[in-house]
Amino acid sequence: MKIYVCHICGEVYIGPSMPPTCPFCGVGNKFLRLGHVWQDANTGIEPTERERELLLEALNLELSNTSFYDCVAKTCTTSEVAKMFKGLMKQEREHADVFKKLLKPESVPEVKEACADDPKKILAESLAREERATVFYLKALSESTTPRVKEVFEAILEVEKTHIELDKSISEKYG
Ligand SMILES: [Fe+2]
Ligand SMILES: [Fe+2]
Repeated sequence: MKIYVCHICGEVYIGPSMPPTCPFCGVGNKFLRLGHVWQDANTGIEPTERERELLLEALNLELSNTSFYDCVAKTCTTSEVAKMFKGLMKQEREHADVFKKLLKPESVPEVKEACADDPKKILAESLAREERATVFYLKALSESTTPRVKEVFEAILEVEKTHIELDKSISEKYG
């Protein structure tokens, strides 16, 4: 067994070989490091004022999506779709934690989202949320200058793109 640590979320995976993506935040395995090599890339990072605003917006976005997916995972009656939402909830929660680690906010906002129970509406809202996230991360990436902050925004942007693909394929099946 080997110990892998994610360069983006800092979570630890123990397994026989390198998984294709981080099992926690979903970034590609180019960001996974063996335990003895990994170093905390957030150490000594001081985001600029503008980056702090963007990181706070990212934190709020991820908390909102986490709450939405938590709600729909419980209300959705189609098993595979409910499982997708549970998986998305866990990745978005991990993304929120990534931004907390970079931002170190004095307090974390409480975000509670309500959700519809009509599967078509839920899938449409999920897709809209993922598309909004992608647009936001592209903007955040273009307005950031600190290499670590840019690296994190870019890595999470790629994950949100995979959520759009997943949403589209599940919508074709169940929408
Ligand atoms: Fe990760
Ligand atoms: Fe996310």
